[in-house]
Amino acid sequence: KKIIFSGIQPTGVFTLGNYIGAIRNWVNLQEEYNCIYSVVDMHAITVRQDPATLRQQTLSSYALLLACGIDPQKSLVFIQSHVPAHAQLSWALGCSAQFGELSRMTQFKDKSLKHADDVNVGLFTYPVLMAADILLYQTNLVPVGIDQKQHLELARDIAIRFNGRYGNTFAVPEPYIPKMGAKVMSLQEPTKKMSKSDENAKAFISILDSADTIIKKCKSAVTDSEARVCYAEGKDGINNLMTIYSVVTGKSLEEITGEFDGKGYGDFKLAVGEAVAEHLRPVREGHERLMKDKAYLEQCYTEGAEKAAHFAKRTLEKTYQKLGFVKGV
Ligand code: TYM
Repeated sequence: KKIIFSGIQPTGVFTLGNYIGAIRNWVNLQEEYNCIYSVVDMHAITVRQDPATLRQQTLSSYALLLACGIDPQKSLVFIQSHVPAHAQLSWALGCSAQFGELSRMTQFKDKSLKHADDVNVGLFTYPVLMAADILLYQTNLVPVGIDQKQHLELARDIAIRFNGRYGNTFAVPEPYIPKMGAKVMSLQEPTKKMSKSDENAKAFISILDSADTIIKKCKSAVTDSEARVCYAEGKDGINNLMTIYSVVTGKSLEEITGEFDGKGYGDFKLAVGEAVAEHLRPVREGHERLMKDKAYLEQCYTEGAEKAAHFAKRTLEKTYQKLGFVKGV
């Protein structure tokens, strides 16, 4: 069986973008593959976080993954900081990553402009830690949205380079990017990615938003002046809403065009809002239930970390041996 790894940052409630671009695929892949999923709290601290909020959000994010349908009986689900091998491998891989290639990462360039007062070293080496997350489990496939593609290519380059220098150590991972919804756009500026850090709360749907809020946000989504529901160049707002609607209802783009033939954008946006709200209802309810059962959550993430640590240790020991470290006790 192929091995799947992916991670998500606990920096706020997940958006519909996180859900459509990543989490929903994580859920589907569980049936066929050995899946390992992580709440990456160590990545989150590359930008300043309030400690109490981070702790709460990490637990909430973990509960959200389960509420979305990640099954801790089928998959390994853990919190990154619980498995120290991630930090350890990250150091080793950093010595096979180049300053130049890290400087070219577009996310680093964007974030160092946005957080100009705190361009810390963690922000710069972020993709090396991400490579460690992936390579530690001999991962074959990494389900992510399109914005993580460059980081994944770096992880591949590091793996290939390390294998070339020291002999075969890591599986070389492939990206798994969905055909539909690899980049869900902002509802307010549909040429921009939907992001939970957007200042305008109307720009994104959080997967814990109430049905009313979801419908309101969809109704106020920016579209165009054509009043024709069809997927076409230049219709970024409509294309985005059609993609969302297609994913949550399972209808094809042609079916959607047919369904709204002769109807206005008002009807369409309402239908999108209702479909999304309905699709996410079990997630909201499941999350609420899980957050009341902290003991169960703790049991799940503890077991997840123990199992992950077991696999991680093998790769770490192999890496240390290849590097020429003296075997410790
Ligand atoms: P993060 O936490 O920003 O996002 C988690 C996942 O959601 C996807 N995503 C989107 N997909 C479609 N449309 C959007 N608008 C959208 N916004 C976010 C992301 O592509 C991602 O798949 N660096 C990673 C976390 C990470 C990781 C890893 C991922 C750490 N280690 C190892 C894979 C493997 C990140 O910040 O994702």
